[in-house]
Amino acid sequence: MKTLVTANQKGGVGKTATLVHLAFDFAERGLRVVVVDLDTQANASYTLGAYKCGITASTLLSDTNVDCSSLPSTGLVLIESDAALANMEKMTLQDAGTNFNSAIKQLSAVGFDVCLIDTAPSLGITMGAALLVSDFVISPIELEAYSIQGIKRMVTTIANIRKANKNLKFLGMVPSKVDKRNPRHIRHLQELTHAYPTLMTPEGIVIGLRSSIADALASRTPVWKIKKTTARVAAKEVRALAAHVLNQMEIG
Ligand SMILES: Nc1ncnc2c1ncn2[C@@H]1O[C@H](COP(=O)(O)OP(=O)(O)OP(=O)(O)O)[C@@H](O)[C@H]1O
Ligand SMILES: [Mg+2]
Repeated sequence: MKTLVTANQKGGVGKTATLVHLAFDFAERGLRVVVVDLDTQANASYTLGAYKCGITASTLLSDTNVDCSSLPSTGLVLIESDAALANMEKMTLQDAGTNFNSAIKQLSAVGFDVCLIDTAPSLGITMGAALLVSDFVISPIELEAYSIQGIKRMVTTIANIRKANKNLKFLGMVPSKVDKRNPRHIRHLQELTHAYPTLMTPEGIVIGLRSSIADALASRTPVWKIKKTTARVAAKEVRALAAHVLNQMEIG
């Protein structure tokens, strides 16, 4: 099993939109996917509510003996967010990471191909624990000043965690909610590509600002099931990102 986390301490940049679409796409390709929602906002848990399995996310971090053996390993399974996740911020990173690591090993033993972890917009214990147990991290970003301002801290956090988790590979920053008619977005994209040439997803892998994505998240379906003209373009972009991520993760 390979594990990927979406992380960025800036809120509202498209982490959950990305994660949910990767989950739908990977499951459609026949991969066995488990999603862990570590955000108390429970946005991924809302959109993927149909795939709940009865295990809550906080138990993976706090319980040294969580039993995942009865989970179905077919299709898509959600380990949902719960209020107790807020208490995890009182744990040490080492304890949370050790518990989460053994839970991830169990999920792997059940037979999942991919584990996708969604995180809250803060550099806390849950995000740290997710980065400690993951093989890959991807950071959606918005092309706005406040989002760009926080990138350095995110990159530093990933670099620090890599000292403890040498496996962790940064798949890059994915520009999200991009409006190609907005000169500010175009300028910010050029500046970012210039400043972080190796830390951006390859040219062309961007998710546009399209209301069909918000429609999809609200209707609990992937954007390719939304009947709108803009949904077709959004679907193409999301599928291209999913194909790129799969290729980088060397699965499928
Ligand atoms: N490509 C897009 N085009 C238009 N709206 C989008 C797009 N991606 C996400 N949204 C909307 O923007 C909001 C934030 O997106 P999302 O929840 O994915 O961000 P997030 O980074 O997970 O936020 P948080 O940090 O709060 O968890 C949501 O209301 C979502 O519907
Ligand atoms: Mg989110």
